[in-house]
Parts: sequence; structure tokens; C-alpha cells
Amino acid sequence: MTDQVTDTTEATEDALASSTSDASLRRSEERSRAIEEQIARDPSGFRMLTGDRPTGHLHIGHYFGSLMNRVRLQDAGVETFVLVADYQVIADRDGTGPIHERVTSLVTDYLALGIDPAKTTIFAHSQVPALNQLMLPFLSLVSDSELYRNPTVKAEHEATGGRPMSGLLLTYPVHQAADILFCKANLVPVGKDQLPHLEQTRVVARRFDERYGRVDPATPVFPQAEALLSSGSLILGTDGTKMSKSKGNTIELRMSADETAKILKKAVTDSDRFITYDPVNRPEVSNLLTLAGLASGRDPVAIADEIGNGGGGGLKKYLIEALNEFFAPIRARRADLESDPGHILDVLRQGNARANEVADATLAEVRQAMGMAY
Ligand code: TRP
Repeated sequence: MTDQVTDTTEATEDALASSTSDASLRRSEERSRAIEEQIARDPSGFRMLTGDRPTGHLHIGHYFGSLMNRVRLQDAGVETFVLVADYQVIADRDGTGPIHERVTSLVTDYLALGIDPAKTTIFAHSQVPALNQLMLPFLSLVSDSELYRNPTVKAEHEATGGRPMSGLLLTYPVHQAADILFCKANLVPVGKDQLPHLEQTRVVARRFDERYGRVDPATPVFPQAEALLSSGSLILGTDGTKMSKSKGNTIELRMSADETAKILKKAVTDSDRFITYDPVNRPEVSNLLTLAGLASGRDPVAIADEIGNGGGGGLKKYLIEALNEFFAPIRARRADLESDPGHILDVLRQGNARANEVADATLAEVRQAMGMAY
């Protein structure tokens, strides 16, 4: 048994190192397409979990990049868990910040954009003790060197600008494995930066089976979770760089139509008045066209042709109208929801209660597999 675990440690280190390689990315993309076809035929074999760190407010990049997809899968009949990853907030920063406001705002966004608590369990992992307890046996299954090698942990540590690596930052991929496995999710819609964590999650599940065994001899306690890569049209900020709250180049879901117009009027374009869709040579203009396409359901090339000589001003006018029209119903629902903060907390508490039931059942099984049921 122990030897087996050692063998897989080496295999995992390779897998983690290569999980962002081109070949493995292509495999994940192919697999994602196959999963989508399977869902279209029969969603019942899937349980999906995904979530967000409550570190800021959701913006239109999140919406078109992943949230829209979650709602689609939920509505296609996939059983869904949506996690507010509040403990992850403190992995790489001091203190929790305005966490209560951020968590309630996140849940408000979720409901406004169509995540339906009648179908989906929305919960915060700090409120689910049995989920967090899975971290202990899971930590016994990983080595410190594989954690240090995790490319996403490395990148996140580098982004802190010299801050010492906290124990939580180093081990958060294992905590994320607990997020996924507590409910035995087998489907995790994520961006490609999260692929190393998915690989780590599969390794934890496999090693748990090898080392601690099963309750039902026919089935491992934990499934092998797969990534569903968001087709991830990567939306840039209004200045043509990565969209990020700290750069002030985002349009948040909670903003008004006027605020949206104000930000977009300042968006960066280029000196060529004639509008064309050319992502390589004209990234800023093309990004605005991509957004206009997503918001209007039209082909960005057709929009560019229509605007033609209308210049950056014409493009922005089109985009402002399209975005504001697209988000109007979501924003209206958001405003309604904001007027009843008690309802938001009720939804979260009900989700927490449901997540606790599921986590307690899994932890009981884990204790039994480990011979720790007294
Ligand atoms: N790490 C994810 C992010 O930064 C958020 C997250 C936490 C998550 N736990 C998860 C995503 C489990 C998928 C599954 O976006």
C-alpha cells in the first residue's frame, strides 16, 4: 500500500507539472466537449461544483467567462453546488476585509443572474465543519514538494509581491479538493488556471482509495472529478489589459447603466477610425467588439462592418446600448433582491444546511473507511 502511494506521488508531480502543458490543455478541451455532449443527452450522471472567492464584486468578465455557463448547466438539469470560498480569501492576504458585505453581494449576484436556489445549493465553506475536517485526512495524502510545485500556488504567491507563503496558501489546493469531494462532485467548470487543482483533487481521491479503502467494496469513496473548461472567451478590461478590480477597468454586475456608459466612454481604442475585428493587431477595439457580440448575440465581424467609419465613438455607443440592454433584467432583479437582505441570508443559510447534510454523510463514510467510526 505504502509503495503504491509513493509511486503515485511521482506520477502526480509529473502530472501537476504538465497539467498546464499544451498537450494536456488540448486533452482537457477535448474531454470538455465530450462531457458537454453527454450532458445534452443525459445530465443525470453529473454533480457539478464550482465557486468563487469573495474578494471583490462580480463583473461582466466573470459573467461571460463562467457564470452564464453555470446557469446554463443548472438549467440543463445538472445537479449543482455553488460555493462561496470564504476561507480562500485569507490564503494570501491579511484579514478578511469587508467579508460579510462581499459574501452577501456575491449571493445577490448569483440569484440575480439566474442561479436558482430551488435547484442549486449555494453555501459558504466556512459554515460546513465536516467539509473542513476532510482537510486532515487529505493532507496526509500529499507531499510538501508537490504542493510547492503547483504552478497556480506559485503564481499566486508571486502575485503577493514577497509576502511569506502562508500554510493555507501552500495547502489550499487540498482544501479545494475537500470543496469538490465533500459532495462527491464529478464535474467542475473552471478556467485553465484551476487545472492543477483538479489534478490534485483526482490524486487525493485516488490515494484515499489506495491508502484508506472503501465502505462499499464496489465503489471508491470519492469519484474522479473532471474539469469542464469554460469556452472562456477571455474578456479584457476597458483599457485592453486583463480585467481586474484593482485596475479599475471592470464593469461590475451591480453597476448602473449610467456607470456602465461612463466607464465605456473612457475605454481605450486606437487611432484607426475604421472599425475592424482583428484581435491580433487591434486587441482593444476587438475586445469591445467581442463584448458587443456577446451582449447582442451577433457576430463581432458583422458589428464591425456595420459600424465601419463610425469610429471608436460609434463602437462605444453600440456597445453601451447592447450591454445595458442585456444586463437590464439582471440589474432589475438585483435591485429587488438588495431591498431584502434577510432573504439573501436565508438562501445562504438554507444552502449551508443542505451542504452540511451532504458533508456529514461523506465524513461518516470517510471515518468508516479509515476505521475511525467509534
Ligand atoms: N480557486 C477558485 C478561484 O479562485 C475558487 C474555488 C474555491 C473553486 N474552491 C473551488 C473553484 C472548488 C472550483 C471548485 O476561482
